[in-house]
Amino acid sequence: MTDPSQDYRTPARLLHWIVALFVLLTIPAGFIMIQDGLARPVQNTLFVFHKNIGVILFLLVLLRLAYRWLRPPPPVPETLHPLQAMAARVSHVLLYTLLLVMPLAGYIRVRAGRFPIEGLDALGIGTLVPRSEALANAAKALHFYGAYAIAALIAIHIGAALLHGLILRDGVFARMWPPLARRR
Ligand code: HEM
Ligand code: HEM
Repeated sequence: MTDPSQDYRTPARLLHWIVALFVLLTIPAGFIMIQDGLARPVQNTLFVFHKNIGVILFLLVLLRLAYRWLRPPPPVPETLHPLQAMAARVSHVLLYTLLLVMPLAGYIRVRAGRFPIEGLDALGIGTLVPRSEALANAAKALHFYGAYAIAALIAIHIGAALLHGLILRDGVFARMWPPLARRR
């Protein structure tokens, strides 16, 4: 349980927790900014925040996946039932898929509608998709349904993490917490 070769390394942990923090800010910002009756300046600020944090998130997830490829995750504890290990693997694949699909759909929705993404505009990075109302609407629908899917998956993920950390106390939680690994 205290064997460091069973734990995630510090870069993987730091990336996990930064991505987690950003996602936990991005989702409520997204749901709040589309509410009717919001004061215009508040809505604009949330949109700017949401779009630009979303782009940074995408880059962080790519970095996380590149690091994961270079340094594959440690094997799961032997105490874990094979079905539990499989459920964890499937849910992580789905999380990564949505962590890539959500910003891509958001980007396409915004750029196909010819709206700004302030950070990219300031860096002079032009649009990568053509202007198209049909494309913007398809991406909008994907982003909308994806939002519920990722929120549900994250709720299950946090529930599972807390179950391992507080009730089972089987060392799974300590594989990722604290953000700095011991002796690695
Ligand atoms: C909120 C957004 C979050 C996202 C998107 C997320 C995503 C992920 C992903 C993709 C993995 C797999 C790591 C890998 O093998 O590459 C992972 C692992 C893990 N996460 Fe999260 N996570 C989030 C929040 C949390 C929170 C809040 C907790 C704790 C309460 C947590 C606890 C863990 C633990 C303990 C692991 C290691 C599981 C293992 O042993 O493989 N995560 N997370
Ligand atoms: C992991 C990253 C992201 C997550 C989890 C996320 C989540 C959400 C959520 C929960 C909503 C409210 C529900 C909806 O209307 O779809 C939303 C809306 C929105 N998001 Fe994102 N988003 C992400 C990235 C982005 C990015 C990178 C952009 C653009 C550059 C973006 C642009 C938008 C826009 C424009 C809306 C308003 C929907 C509309 O009416 O068109 N999102 N997002």
